[in-house]
Amino acid sequence: MTEKNFYITTPIYYPSGKLHIGSAYTTIACDVLARYKRMMGFDVHYLTGLDEHGQKIQQKAEEAGITPQEYVDGMAVGVKELWNLLDISYDQFIRTTDNYHEEAVAKIFDTLLEKGDIYLGEYTGWYSVSDEEFFTESQLAEVYRDENGNMIGGVAPSGHEVEKVSEESYFFRMSKYADRLKAYYAEHPEFIQPDGRMNEMLKNFIEPGLEDLAVSRTTFTWGVKVPNDPKHVVYVWIDALSNYITALGYNNSLPNQMDKFWGNDDQHEVIHMIGKDILRFHSIYWPIMLMALDLPLPTRLVAHGWFVMQDGKMSKSKGNVVYPEMLVERFGLDPLRYYLIRSLPIGSDGTFTPEDYVGRINYELANDLGNLLNRTVAMINKYFGGEVPAFATATEFDADLATVVADNIAAYHKQMAAVDYPRALEVVWNIISRTNKYIDETAPWVLAKDEADRDKLAAVMAHLAASLRVVAHLIQPFMMETSNAIMEQLGLGSAFDLENLALSGLPTGIKVVAKGTPIFPRLDMDEEIAYIKEQMNAGKAPVEKEWVPEEVELTSSKETIKFEEFDASEIRVAEVIEVEKVEGSDKLLRFRLDAGDADHRQILSGIAKFYPNEQELVGKKLQIVANLKPRKMMKKYISQGMILSAEHDGKLTVLTVDPSVPNGSVIG
Ligand code: ME8
Ligand code: MG
Repeated sequence: MTEKNFYITTPIYYPSGKLHIGSAYTTIACDVLARYKRMMGFDVHYLTGLDEHGQKIQQKAEEAGITPQEYVDGMAVGVKELWNLLDISYDQFIRTTDNYHEEAVAKIFDTLLEKGDIYLGEYTGWYSVSDEEFFTESQLAEVYRDENGNMIGGVAPSGHEVEKVSEESYFFRMSKYADRLKAYYAEHPEFIQPDGRMNEMLKNFIEPGLEDLAVSRTTFTWGVKVPNDPKHVVYVWIDALSNYITALGYNNSLPNQMDKFWGNDDQHEVIHMIGKDILRFHSIYWPIMLMALDLPLPTRLVAHGWFVMQDGKMSKSKGNVVYPEMLVERFGLDPLRYYLIRSLPIGSDGTFTPEDYVGRINYELANDLGNLLNRTVAMINKYFGGEVPAFATATEFDADLATVVADNIAAYHKQMAAVDYPRALEVVWNIISRTNKYIDETAPWVLAKDEADRDKLAAVMAHLAASLRVVAHLIQPFMMETSNAIMEQLGLGSAFDLENLALSGLPTGIKVVAKGTPIFPRLDMDEEIAYIKEQMNAGKAPVEKEWVPEEVELTSSKETIKFEEFDASEIRVAEVIEVEKVEGSDKLLRFRLDAGDADHRQILSGIAKFYPNEQELVGKKLQIVANLKPRKMMKKYISQGMILSAEHDGKLTVLTVDPSVPNGSVIG
């Protein structure tokens, strides 16, 4: 028999803040796969951990007034607590500050240096500390320039500012491996999931030509020192990506599990699950590092989309961040695991809404699944004293139910292999809906009235129990508590056998519990939605000392203009010398103004009805457009400019200026 070894990894997260439902999503998704594979007889190694080096962490520690090590030690405790709360079945938790890891990274760097794949050079580029990533000008979302058009800064696609960095640096000869990487992609079209992302990587990064990657930094110290040149620290991504093999004892003193878990063949399956934000590192730099180290590549990269909020990315300042702890405390663990996994479609982003969260608990968990269990347990108690009858086919609906269950079990395994969890759950809910419908079709309460239908009634009860047993198996990797509760209520304990699962009879003499307890409470929608919203807002960060504008669509009723276009108009301060109503017009006021010209100006302005007492304006300093072409109004008056006013609720108010500002001052 061949060994079946399965290695699954999450990204190692930056411990630079409290983890939100985004990191929880990836970690739960990996947990689901780890649990599924274990149930299917694989020897599983599930790795997660923290990416603790780099400038961002050093800065966070400085802000907190503690050493980086103290800072990450504190954060690591919190992250482990969170994974315990979410019942994550990881086998290993790696921290890049662990000695065994640092030791191995230094050796990896040395190996590549000796091989000539890493060389010393000079780097000038634009760096985003938050992303720990260099960007070329064309990759930036926005570029800032001075008057001469020279680039002076910019904004990364993540919304974070980049800064210019110029330093001596070691470089990795990525270009040397570009062709091999392309060939690998071509031979392994299933390497990157979902489909389409591989092409994205090819088009955006590989085909334009791979540049050599700067792989050391000298402007800060928090990292793995380059052996023999310790003013350099190893670039945090080289450090971080290595975790997937250092955890298995590569180049260090840990027990060596590389043979067992690393590889891509009949005996090995390696999956890195990540968000689309870091696919570039995993699909280009990581494979190239592995090629340079003469190691096999992972079997698959699964790059999921993001959880976003209705008003865009989650951000503390918007008060739209959702933390998993709050949801677990209020609603329990299984709804969170279910919601996150069910709501993020493979390959695209998903929107978290409180309405959806509470809705799914009520409709899909409490109604569809919870009720099915309640009704089944209650009927078996009522009609058969709690004992599950022997499995037999007796009604015309039995065969159809059996087919639907069998088909959906097969579909489930197919979706699990494709790591398409929303569809896998959909498949389970097909079985649940079909089984609920089966109750309506067979109408047990009618069968119970006629002793002649006793066999049919027994068959129906046996089918219901069997179907729920199937459901309990299929949801076990997703919702352990619920799955265990169903098995418990059916009297089956923890006798799981997912590998040989089928709609079949329960062992004879099995008794369901005398009184089932609802596995999901029914929620008051309005109340619970309000609760989640309130909690999201409570997390709103106080205004931080450094304000960073959000990536939002700025609103304007007009089209965007260039600075020069705005600069073409001249706005000046003008004092009202005289003002009077214009005869024959109820709209216009005629102003004589001192705008710093050789003589006074005349301007007609349509604000009469907002200033019935127009003399109050005399002596006020207003803002006027001074270089507007003069025009004739009311056939006889020349108007030499325009008075600026603000519109609000259909009213106009002139814009005044502090009296200390001299007439004629230019505004801009
Ligand atoms: O990038 N929706 O760490 P990180 C879904 N240290 N997933 C999300 C998410 C969201 N809104 N926000 C975050 C790093 N994630 C590096 C990784 S690996 C060698 C080094 C998840 O803390 C998603 O998996 O920024 C994403 O890729 C990851 O968190 C980024 O975590
Ligand atoms: Mg990130």
